[in-house]
Amino acid sequence: MYDCLEKVNIHKAEPIILGIESSCDETAAAVIRGRKILSDEIASSASIQAEFGGVVPEIASRAHTDEIAKVVDRAIQKAGITYQDIDAVAVTYGAGLLGALLVGVSFAKAFAYALNKPLIAVNHIRGHLAAAYLDEPNLETPFVTLLASGGHTAILYAKSEGEFEILGATLDDAAGEAFDKVARVLGLKYPGGPHIERTAKEGKPIIPMPKMLKGGGGYNFSYSGLKTAVINYCHTKQQRGEEVNKADVACSFQAAAVDVLVEKTISAALEKGVKIVTAGGGVAANGYLRESLQQACKARGLKLILPEKRYCTDNAAMIASEGLVQYKLGNFADMTLTAKASIPLAATLETVQSRAAKAKEEN
Ligand code: KG4
Ligand code: ZN
Repeated sequence: MYDCLEKVNIHKAEPIILGIESSCDETAAAVIRGRKILSDEIASSASIQAEFGGVVPEIASRAHTDEIAKVVDRAIQKAGITYQDIDAVAVTYGAGLLGALLVGVSFAKAFAYALNKPLIAVNHIRGHLAAAYLDEPNLETPFVTLLASGGHTAILYAKSEGEFEILGATLDDAAGEAFDKVARVLGLKYPGGPHIERTAKEGKPIIPMPKMLKGGGGYNFSYSGLKTAVINYCHTKQQRGEEVNKADVACSFQAAAVDVLVEKTISAALEKGVKIVTAGGGVAANGYLRESLQQACKARGLKLILPEKRYCTDNAAMIASEGLVQYKLGNFADMTLTAKASIPLAATLETVQSRAAKAKEEN
């Protein structure tokens, strides 16, 4: 009988959470105890996907199916725990590639059911935000966070661990998407971000770029104009038979794409009157962004919590970390949980509340 929610203790000091992530091309599993990472395993199909210039959903799903049991097993073994030690299983249920998500969700459901463990549905984006808690276990809300990934770009105000306000977001392409598209135009491999970063190191930011809603647009961004400007610049050069200086293009694009993120994040933090800024998502692994954000925060007396690069790109420790947030709130899923290709930016799934959480509310 699946009756674990009857007896779950959401007040347990340091619950052990198994996190599972399969929303894109990374099959990942991790175990945390409280905010401490005990293990963190990833099997990536990125090198296979690179041959196709992007993620092929069918290939990603197959790779997840091949890897998931092995990756979860490794995570549990390396954490030095037994199955029974696990307090809850947290899994990404959206947003992402539907077929890829389904592998993780189906596995997590079967695993939770077989072991009679609570199941937690995690919004991938909230996972990126929760990576900061692992970097700084004493981190407390409120803070302002910059989220920049392949699918989303936003500035959020974290009122409490469970409650985010969206201050601004991209009006079109995400920052990571722009890095990937510009990389493709420059003949660089997928995923484009790290290749742009490497190429930009050899160049100078001397090519004029569009303004990126710098002063205007509130805390919103627009990346499609920047992307189009780079594409047009390269095409015009090629038509004239002139050589494109890839390093200068990469460097100019990177500066335009990143400067606006840093500027708006700092403005949002100052307006909200918070003392702490955090960042997450694949683009937050960018060295130029990390340095710029570090300097800007220092200049304004803000404390920056910036997860290590590997916890900015997709991983399962961040899913376990958001799982811990939801565990403490008593938000559990049941066996009707299913994957969703798209979900609102900062939404959580509140299907089943544990008895303990309900009792807490009633008191
Ligand atoms: O967060 P993430 O791993 O997956 C999503 O949830 O989308 O982000 C992937 C995105 C890709 O667009 C990739 O090009 C970008 O993050 N990215 C970077 C860097 N590393 C990854 N962008 C700029 N510089 C990097 N070093
Ligand atoms: Zn991600």
